[in-house]
Amino acid sequence: MRRLATLLALAALAAAAPATAQDGATIYKRCAACHLADGSGVPGAFPPLKADVRALAATAAGRRYLALVVIRGVSGPITVAGKVYRGTMPAQGGLNDAQIASVLNHVVRGSSAKAFTAKEIAGYRAGGASLTSAAVARLQPKVGGK
Ligand code: HEC
Repeated sequence: MRRLATLLALAALAAAAPATAQDGATIYKRCAACHLADGSGVPGAFPPLKADVRALAATAAGRRYLALVVIRGVSGPITVAGKVYRGTMPAQGGLNDAQIASVLNHVVRGSSAKAFTAKEIAGYRAGGASLTSAAVARLQPKVGGK
């Protein structure tokens, strides 16, 4: 099933010129397994990737946190949209810096935050290489609504 999904994703990629492996919506499919296709999440289990994430993308500390969540994983407690999550998101291995920039740009689309770039992600990756997922959780800056 997973293999079929991968093949379908690849077929969709091939069909949709000028889409590339960098396409954020395509990469987001791996996130949607937990956060759902529209990013609304599952209360108590998987946080929504909505207003809080957009607010985080507007600050330097928030952008670093978002990148490191994907690179290193995150293991709470964290508070998202006023609810506490005490789960674990596994690091999303295998995504390169350009792919992480693309998927984060997809997640925060519609916000006024400047676009993530591969170069920016590379800097966060280098600086956060020794962080555990619990340490990433402690980096979560406070955003509105908490
Ligand atoms: C296996 C399930 C799973 C997958 C796949 C997954 N996540 Fe998560 N994600 C979680 C869980 C669980 C948390 C909350 C962890 C906690 O409770 O500390 C989380 C938290 C987050 C947060 C923190 C939100 C905040 O407001 O602080 C972001 C951002 C995020 N995920 C983005 C992504 C992106 C982007 C992808 C795809 C590249 C992804 N996730 C894939 C389960 C997942």
